[in-house]
Amino acid sequence: VGTATACAPSQGAVAPSSAAAAPASAGVGTSTGTMGAPGIGDPDFPSDGNGGYDVRHYDLRLSYDPSSRKLAGSATIEAKAAQDLTSFDLDLHGLTVSRVAVDGAAASFSRSQDELVIEPAQRIRNGDGFAVTVDYSGVPEPMHDTANLGRYGFIATPDGAFVTCEPNGAKTWFPSNDHPADKATYDFRITVPEGLTAIANGEMAGTPQTTAGKTTFVWREKHPMASYLATMTTGKFQVRTGTSAKGLPIYAAVADSFRGSLDTLFTQTGKITDYWSTVFGPYPFSSTGGVIDDYAAGYALENQTKPIYGGFSPEPAIIAHELAHQWFGDSLSIGRWRDLWLNEGFATYAEWLWAEHTGQGTADSAFRRYYENAADPMWAYPPGAARADDLFSAAVYNRGAMTLHALRREIGDQKFFPLIRAWADAHRYGNVSTREFIALAERVSGKDLKGLFDAWLFQPKRPAPVM
Ligand code: ARG
Ligand code: ZN
Repeated sequence: VGTATACAPSQGAVAPSSAAAAPASAGVGTSTGTMGAPGIGDPDFPSDGNGGYDVRHYDLRLSYDPSSRKLAGSATIEAKAAQDLTSFDLDLHGLTVSRVAVDGAAASFSRSQDELVIEPAQRIRNGDGFAVTVDYSGVPEPMHDTANLGRYGFIATPDGAFVTCEPNGAKTWFPSNDHPADKATYDFRITVPEGLTAIANGEMAGTPQTTAGKTTFVWREKHPMASYLATMTTGKFQVRTGTSAKGLPIYAAVADSFRGSLDTLFTQTGKITDYWSTVFGPYPFSSTGGVIDDYAAGYALENQTKPIYGGFSPEPAIIAHELAHQWFGDSLSIGRWRDLWLNEGFATYAEWLWAEHTGQGTADSAFRRYYENAADPMWAYPPGAARADDLFSAAVYNRGAMTLHALRREIGDQKFFPLIRAWADAHRYGNVSTREFIALAERVSGKDLKGLFDAWLFQPKRPAPVM
């Protein structure tokens, strides 16, 4: 979208040459004949997502019982074939599949690790739309990666579940094309025992209905969403709804033990979302919000329309970070994980901008504080190529934010802020790459910025001082 002048950044020695290639995009993977590929083509996460089709919509009808920890229901996935398909995969971790149907006809299926391989009765033709329904049940098992990602995905709690899926935990609770390169809209129909609340993305449709001791919550996210941003967090929650000063609907929910934080969460969320819309351009979704669960994850996640805070009352800076992700990460999603600085560098820079806005120190002072520490391990980690074995490295966050500050100093505020707005606007609801950001920065500023980006994103050493 308007980035025809794209030039590949000159890659540093550590950046594999494939970093300059087009990102994985929906439905593109290496395929064998008419079998959809088991991965979407992300070189660092080869089995994540799938090839051969593009999901348009997920319709998830699920019930969860916290006492047995059992999840049961069905997922209907509406997709469009990107090649002829005699078989294709969905990602699914654990759980038991009882039936698969393609366009209403029973299909055969098999399981192999986290791939659900589906063979429809009829070959699907390239370009055709099709609907797959998967009936399944079982006790979801979260992903657990001690070295790097911690515990994520569907995590049972005493009264429900804490559901945060970055980078590839959506498959712990629904069959999906589990990679941000394939975004889709979502409908959720979630049934829980009466007295509990089920929280998903987007807005609630109608009022929750209770029959025979069970309540069903219907949520709809009508804007495209990456699978890792989907949630069905459930449990005992205190909820406050209303609108921001600018009229945007707000949904705030906190676990009982955080009831004292509900009003602050509600108020700050509205205020910060409104402020970011003056800095980054119009808010991309139809509501904003936040959820504090009592599961001590130790991290927050920018779930679309409803960031979640795992077991803590967030400081305004953290709320500012997660809400900045609604533009950078959620509306604009990366096409492969290596480009994660486009999410985390931007959201961390937003923390610095929030400090600047609230008179708590300038972005420049934050930049200098990091720059002065010549021994910081981030100098050995070029954030332009986030590593699968250390994905959420502080380098991706802080050196990523420093990259934006170095850019701001180089091109000035008069170009920098319009650039950020143009970036959010040009790729709204889409997928983005580092190459595209560099191209737009060069176009907006009229400067050759390859050296700057190469030094900040791709070299394993501290760049020369700015100015
Ligand atoms: N994107 C989140 C944030 O910075 C971090 C997610 C960490 N995920 C994980 N599996 N540990 O706001
Ligand atoms: Zn973040």
